Amino acid sequence: MTFARNATLEIFGQRHELPFVVGTEGETAFDITRLREQTGAITFDDGYGNTGSCSSAITYIEGEQGILRYRGYPIEQLAEHSDFVETAYLVIYGELPTAAQRANFSALLTENAAIHERMVYLFESYPRDAHPMALLGAMVNALACYYPHLATNNHNRDITNFDDAATTLISKVRTITAMAYRMSRGLPVIYPKRSLKYCENFLHMMFSEPYDLYQCSPEVARALNLILLLHADHEQNCSTATVRMVASSGANLFASAAAGVCALWGPFHGGANQAVIEMLQAIHDSGDDGTRFIAEAKDGNRRLMGFGHRIYKNYDPRAKIIGKTCESLLRTLGLNDPLLDIARNLEQAARNDAYFVERRLYPNVDFYSGIIMRAIGIPLNMFTVMFAIGRMPGWVANWREVASNPRTRIYRPRQIYIGPAQRDYIPVGQRR
Ligand code: ACO
Repeated sequence: MTFARNATLEIFGQRHELPFVVGTEGETAFDITRLREQTGAITFDDGYGNTGSCSSAITYIEGEQGILRYRGYPIEQLAEHSDFVETAYLVIYGELPTAAQRANFSALLTENAAIHERMVYLFESYPRDAHPMALLGAMVNALACYYPHLATNNHNRDITNFDDAATTLISKVRTITAMAYRMSRGLPVIYPKRSLKYCENFLHMMFSEPYDLYQCSPEVARALNLILLLHADHEQNCSTATVRMVASSGANLFASAAAGVCALWGPFHGGANQAVIEMLQAIHDSGDDGTRFIAEAKDGNRRLMGFGHRIYKNYDPRAKIIGKTCESLLRTLGLNDPLLDIARNLEQAARNDAYFVERRLYPNVDFYSGIIMRAIGIPLNMFTVMFAIGRMPGWVANWREVASNPRTRIYRPRQIYIGPAQRDYIPVGQRR
């Protein structure tokens, strides 16, 4: 971030100099860090649409053109040439790993795959039909109980153990997820296998039986790698901003990531991938081809889930990649999913409809990802959990930026108070 020159702000005839900052890709901002001190006023930006809450070197998005880069690398190149583990390393450490770095990172992931045996009792105490996102948030937070040396709430100490904490989280989140799935179905827990790669190991823990090992096809492993890789980071979205907010108080990585899980759960964020399939299924069940649904969305009664984005006013580049993979995976697996046809119809109809065109609403990452996950056999209520597994490297990288910066200040926005002005206490007998 460079300070190019000053900009001048005039408030009721008084002029104030504000530093004007420029990012690597020419993004510009007024630095208002000292605005209140200088003018007595704060900025008001409900929903943070115009607020740069931090500087970050992890991810770049240009929403007008639909550009997404991790650490400078275009998402299209990573999707074609990389896999989830390598991309996770890149997102967290800033560079593509050398062969030795990659091997070491993989070894740490393998080492940290199993969860503490006592955590099984925690699972036991939750209702069998608990939503997997509720379980995931609880279990990620609980990691601080079982691995307290990685979660001291002293950033200097936690940063010393960062490699262990990061790989513990990224590896165990997949074990926790598979375990939650198995237990919710009354199935025996399947332990991680050292010889398997990250995605294959996850599918093994999900779908193997003690007497019948799951055979993972290369296409399925590739599709899962792609889904996770495409979710690895997305700059200051709701959950990542939440992770940074919690981290800024000095909280450890597990607590911060657990907060991210909670923020991700909502249907306007990560929960949208589940909501998309529910929407497509409802359209299918009602015999509609999507026309009625589009009309209702335009009336403001519904939202076309998986459409629209705060930042992208063009195609979400991840949706383009996932859309293509969706078709090829279904073809390879010999599956014919009627929901894919409905999704294609909806996209077509929306892209030709003035309502969506004027508002620049395009498919986002969640529009097609659920169809791939269905094809892999992931149950619907676990879709958002899959998003969380994919997003973990981004949360870890953002936590690290906050925790390792000696100049980090606690995140503490202000507000414009609109409640009652001062008034005197009324004894209960006199209240009306
Ligand atoms: N369907 C129909 N209309 C929509 C949609 C949609 N999916 N999204 C936005 N609009 C309309 C709004 O009604 C509004 O119309 P108006 O100007 O007539 O009032 C206009 O487009 C602008 O919408 P906002 O809500 O102001 O946009 P915002 O940036 O606040 O919201 C969001 C972005 C939450 C993603 C929104 O587009 C949405 O709800 N989409 C559906 C949910 C979804 O897919 N979420 C996943 C996002 S990606 C992610 O988090 C991984």
